[in-house]
Amino acid sequence: MTISAFSETTAAAAAMMIVVVFVLPLSAGAAAPPPAPAIGMPNCSTSCGDISVPYPFGMGPARCYHSPGFNLTCDNTTSPPRLLLGGILQVHYISLPQSTLLVTRTPGDARVDAGGSGSLFAGGLGDDDGAYIKLSYIGNELILLGCNVRATLRNGNGTTISTCSSLCGDIGPSWYVPSSLGSSMLCTGDACCQAPIVADAGTAGKAAAASYDVKLEWFGRNRTADEERMPTRVFVADKGWFEKKQVSDRLLHPATKYIDVGAPVWLSWEVAEHPSTRANSNITSPSSLVVCEEGEGGGYSACLCPEGYGGNPYIPDGCQG
Ligand SMILES: *[C@@H]1O[C@H](CO)[C@@H](O)[C@H](O)[C@H]1NC(C)=O
Ligand SMILES: *[C@@H]1O[C@H](CO)[C@@H](O)[C@H](O)[C@H]1NC(C)=O
Ligand SMILES: *[C@@H]1O[C@H](CO)[C@@H](O)[C@H](O)[C@H]1NC(C)=O
Ligand SMILES: *[C@@H]1O[C@H](CO)[C@@H](O)[C@H](O)[C@H]1NC(C)=O
Ligand SMILES: *[C@@H]1O[C@H](CO)[C@@H](O)[C@H](O)[C@H]1NC(C)=O
Ligand SMILES: *[C@@H]1O[C@H](CO)[C@@H](O)[C@H](O)[C@H]1NC(C)=O
Repeated sequence: MTISAFSETTAAAAAMMIVVVFVLPLSAGAAAPPPAPAIGMPNCSTSCGDISVPYPFGMGPARCYHSPGFNLTCDNTTSPPRLLLGGILQVHYISLPQSTLLVTRTPGDARVDAGGSGSLFAGGLGDDDGAYIKLSYIGNELILLGCNVRATLRNGNGTTISTCSSLCGDIGPSWYVPSSLGSSMLCTGDACCQAPIVADAGTAGKAAAASYDVKLEWFGRNRTADEERMPTRVFVADKGWFEKKQVSDRLLHPATKYIDVGAPVWLSWEVAEHPSTRANSNITSPSSLVVCEEGEGGGYSACLCPEGYGGNPYIPDGCQG
């Protein structure tokens, strides 16, 4: 039975081109009723307000998180408390199986200089301290507000990962025309536009996450007049955020178009340490097999407990059946 479980898991791993497999020892003995599987390390706080904080993330002493890049802080001076990454990004949700984080940047738009150059997450992400955190290709979109301007988003390799253009006629709308598509995308290029973020072909590597540059190019006849009609602003945000009426109305309304807003954005994370350094555990049972994917930064992510097991695969003995 255990042999077949092992084979199935191995076959599934091969089929999915999952490249990393390591094994965690199981605890022996099973007389007492099993406690609920832990999501964090022993004696570590695993929630901040109503947000769950699973290992490799953690708060407080160093034993509570995998490496310094996963050190979160809970600011409980506010109500509700705020969970912070790097003291700047507010964390709303951590997914273990997807290896993603939903955070809010404030201000939410990229700061761009007069020449049209700017960046997202200046100095904020990367592969510092054992955690490799980057912009997620999934779940986000580029949003540009402005007249007769094109925005291009590039990763640290200089690869374009999103672009769109926003036009305004010489006469006509003083600020914006809602999309005639009306469904999923609010803007089709009249005073604002939206575009998906596309992944690098092949392995982007660590360099890709080192920076995210935004470049604006104005192509209208009179940039001053265009800026007066719709100030240029660029966001990278959770798909669906901008479509919310209370968000788009505020951002597109002439009276409030300069206000600072926070924007939610999906990040993906991996444990930067190479898994081979962990693959030295004792093989006690095939059912203790934990399968992970090799991350783009050379670390590992998306770890799963074996089928039929719950718990946290990032914690030694964290999978329980
Ligand atoms: C957790 O706390 C309990 C009670 O304070 C203590 O007995 C135990 O040794 C602690 N465990 C760890 C891993 O720190
Ligand atoms: C974790 O991060 C916080 C805030 O950035 C910092 O104050 C704290 O010292 C860090 N913890 C450790 C153990 O380095
Ligand atoms: C706030 O956090 C501090 C340190 O993490 C803790 O000592 C304190 O008990 C917390 N206060 C509340 C109200 O949870
Ligand atoms: C991105 O940069 C890395 C490291 O500098 C390099 O190995 C890789 O080939 C680059 N990828 C692309 C698509 O340029
Ligand atoms: C551009 O627009 C500004 C503001 O509307 C106006 O003052 C300026 O004269 C315009 N420039 C040209 C070259 O039309
Ligand atoms: C394997 O298990 C034995 C006995 O529990 C322990 O002494 C040894 O250190 C373990 N080896 C590794 C590589 O974890």
